[in-house]
Amino acid sequence: MIVLGVESSCDECSVAVVEDGATVLGQVIATQLDEHAPFQGVVPEIASRTHTRWIVGVYRRALARAGVNPRDLDGVAVTNRPGLVGSLVVGLSFAKGLAYGLGAPLVGVNHMLAHLYAPQLASPVEYPFLGLLVSGGHTIIARSESPLSMEVLGTTIDDACGEAFDKVAKYYGFGYPGGVAIDRLARKGDDRAFAFPDASLHKAGHRYDVSYSGLKTAVINQLDQFWNGASERSPENIAASFERAAVDMLLRRLYRAVADTGLTRVVVGGGVAANTRMRASLAARTDLQVRFPTLELCTDNGAMIAGLGYHLLRSGTHDSLDLDASARVERFRSTYP
Ligand code: KG4
Ligand code: ZN
Repeated sequence: MIVLGVESSCDECSVAVVEDGATVLGQVIATQLDEHAPFQGVVPEIASRTHTRWIVGVYRRALARAGVNPRDLDGVAVTNRPGLVGSLVVGLSFAKGLAYGLGAPLVGVNHMLAHLYAPQLASPVEYPFLGLLVSGGHTIIARSESPLSMEVLGTTIDDACGEAFDKVAKYYGFGYPGGVAIDRLARKGDDRAFAFPDASLHKAGHRYDVSYSGLKTAVINQLDQFWNGASERSPENIAASFERAAVDMLLRRLYRAVADTGLTRVVVGGGVAANTRMRASLAARTDLQVRFPTLELCTDNGAMIAGLGYHLLRSGTHDSLDLDASARVERFRSTYP
């Protein structure tokens, strides 16, 4: 079964063709990084307009790369949640037109579940596993039993992890995207120069949850309070200390989930998975089998949408042409809704 996947939930415009949910025949990912760089953050209006201009070209190039004729497509899968609604609507409308024109089935895909599926496109990971999804828009610790199931164990109660990197970098003028700039600076810094606090979310129900808003405030407004009094208050030291707090906070919750569930397979996804400290810390846990997808499959991409779309179509899930987009998904705890 050959499925085309469309992804436009944020600032990546991507289309891919995937065979049997496993083999990527061709993919194009057009990033809007340069469009948003002057604003040091994704501007929703610019994102949706750019998708509108790019989507047809991205689709044509993806088909050419795959060497596939539109008539060979057995289905069209599209991210319809969660994301920036204006951006989602562009991909969704395009996918609807294509499915209608071809008389092919259409299926809406949950972007978060697709991130968990991404590593399966390189080489299969056995279920069940724990998933760690960290990007500019999401921070999730989940348990997955199958491609179509995801139980959210923990999430952020405020800002996403990547969002905290971006906001700290923007405030100090470190560069864009913030995560990349902080990662680069942190390699030359002292991560003990500031002892930024972890949020104490000890109450029942928050066992695996994180909070980044307090950390962000501490780094931006309360440097003195957490300074060790000796190290230089340099960009490198601020970056290294912030990165230590942000990454370790998340990994503590993940390791708690490992201990509680007994699961030792961990799948990591999202832009923050590129972080050097996170990769090194996870790699040091030799008792875990940690799978990082390639960079192309880690960030937003059409292949993971087509891959999961295959499983949905095979299970008999189809959507009608009045399928809507949605900014959020409920914190779901069962199989695919
Ligand atoms: O998955 P992604 O490309 O887009 C979405 O947000 O969906 O993730 C982008 C996020 C940004 O917040 C960026 O600052 C962060 O990932 N990021 C990093 C690194 N590279 C990208 N954060 C920490 N360290 C990095 N090396
Ligand atoms: Zn994403």
